[in-house]
Amino acid sequence: MAGAIPQHFIDELLARADIVDIIGRRVPLKKAGREFQACCPFHSEKTPSFTVSPSKQFYHCFGCGAHGSALGFLMEYDRLNFPEAVEELASSLGLDVPREAAFEQGPDHRPIYDMLEQAARQFEHQLRQHADAPRAVEYLRGRGVSGEIAGRFRLGYAPPGWDRLLTTLGTDENRIRRLADAGLITEQEDGKPYDRLRDRIIFPILDTRGRVVGFGGRLLGDGKPKYLNSPETPVFHKGRELYGLYEARQADAHPVRLLVVEGYMDVVALAQFGVSNAVATLGTATTADHLEKLYRATPEVVFCFDGDRAGREAAWKALQTALPLMRDGRQARFLFLPDGEDPDSLIRTIGADAFAEQVAAAKPLSTYLFDHLAGQVDTQSIDGRARLGELARPLLDRLPQGVFRDMMQQALYQRIGLNPPPAPAPQAARMPRRSAAPRPGGSIPPIRRAVALLVQHPEVADQALPSGWERLEANGIDLLRQMLDAVRASPGIRSGALVERWEDPETRRLLARLAILELGILDDAAEQFRGTLDRLTQEQRREECDALLSKSRDAPLTSEEKQRLTELLRAPGA
Ligand code: UTP
Ligand code: MN
Repeated sequence: MAGAIPQHFIDELLARADIVDIIGRRVPLKKAGREFQACCPFHSEKTPSFTVSPSKQFYHCFGCGAHGSALGFLMEYDRLNFPEAVEELASSLGLDVPREAAFEQGPDHRPIYDMLEQAARQFEHQLRQHADAPRAVEYLRGRGVSGEIAGRFRLGYAPPGWDRLLTTLGTDENRIRRLADAGLITEQEDGKPYDRLRDRIIFPILDTRGRVVGFGGRLLGDGKPKYLNSPETPVFHKGRELYGLYEARQADAHPVRLLVVEGYMDVVALAQFGVSNAVATLGTATTADHLEKLYRATPEVVFCFDGDRAGREAAWKALQTALPLMRDGRQARFLFLPDGEDPDSLIRTIGADAFAEQVAAAKPLSTYLFDHLAGQVDTQSIDGRARLGELARPLLDRLPQGVFRDMMQQALYQRIGLNPPPAPAPQAARMPRRSAAPRPGGSIPPIRRAVALLVQHPEVADQALPSGWERLEANGIDLLRQMLDAVRASPGIRSGALVERWEDPETRRLLARLAILELGILDDAAEQFRGTLDRLTQEQRREECDALLSKSRDAPLTSEEKQRLTELLRAPGA
């Protein structure tokens, strides 16, 4: 991992960059008074509610609430992670990104990537040159794969034999160790190494940067196992990689949707028919990491599953994985293929146009969810409809707050045949009035603001915090606690390094965005941080106190409750 980017450089970058220029190069902007407007690139709309302010160097969408600085915009629009966005912005200004010594210097994986690339080249070469190559070429041709598509996916061939890679690439001890680290050779019981992939068509698996991280290998005929994949290695994790994602983004960097299919050959065959936006999981269920990767590349994911029982089970599992990730602006749909077909066989049978129609008709997540549950109850009876509500409730609860969740709740009421409760008054945070000027950092919830303060000024963790704050419960408080622990364990840590502590991409993106949020404060960060926690703690104590008092009017309190009430009443500010 490269070293952390110094905060002062990020500050300088944001001071020098012009957000109107950065966004204007990607989205057509129209001047409107002192600001600029456009139709929002992050949700679909007909009248522009996306505003860019040159004076604040900030963008904001009144429709979907997207907002941020030039860096935040690059992350969202170009689907970059934080360091990538910094690189992009810096290079557009002709600056080099300085790096602090890496906070946690990970091991250097370059030799493994290098070995994997060499192996990929050798496999590609062997598909053309080896004495056995005609069999492999014949196999691919028989499956309708053209030379062009084979080239695009860098397909290759591992000839028969136990030591082909070993003898060509494993020329010394060091390199043999690297072949093993790269998952290319396996050891026999007596410790003798041999090639893992033999007499198989090779599908190189690329990461989002186009580096080879692993391989899948298919037998030319029948036999078991039909596919052999790279084992988990320091650079290859099945639960994170998607076959074909790099190639799909080469074809279109911002595809309107991506299809998730099951097999390598499905991806390749679809591309052969001009459908170049398909990716495959690698023999595993779709993970949250997969979905994060996908939604960084596209707003819509269409899952294609077999129509058989296993396919239906996989689909339901994918839905459950997707629920917590369905932020506004993201969509998921489900396509069930006829029993016995996979996308490869289907597109060959019905052709690209009919396949596109099927994709267009794929079920939206909402429809699939309710249809699936409705299939388990008798929706004609009141009991059945109540049961439907019971089944749906925990699923809807997993959706993030937002317009989509509200719509799902409404849809549930409709399905149950109940009048929905009156719609909640529009919340200031979610739907600011048009007349209100965007106030960077002004409308964000207090805990999030505290997290932003902590990311931007980690030194605020050095002070004593208000007593009783440990009991505080609020959205986002866990992250705040983890961050405080992280900062306190590494005094002097800077924002960049702090953000990179989080492996989970969702959190990292959130922190990166908060790291560049304009908070409009410079010298009293510590006071503001403490003040925020203090206010929240007091508020919560007051609420708890009120609740206990009102309860005591109806029923006797338990001795624990009495003790707590005494504590609360005695404390200042209660
Ligand atoms: P499929 O058997 O559906 O793959 O397995 P496919 O691509 O349709 O196979 P063919 O070439 O057309 O017959 C789906 C995926 O499951 C994993 C692979 O990732 C494969 O692409 N798999 C399957 C394995 O890892 N090992 C196996 O033995 C079989
Ligand atoms: Mn197949």
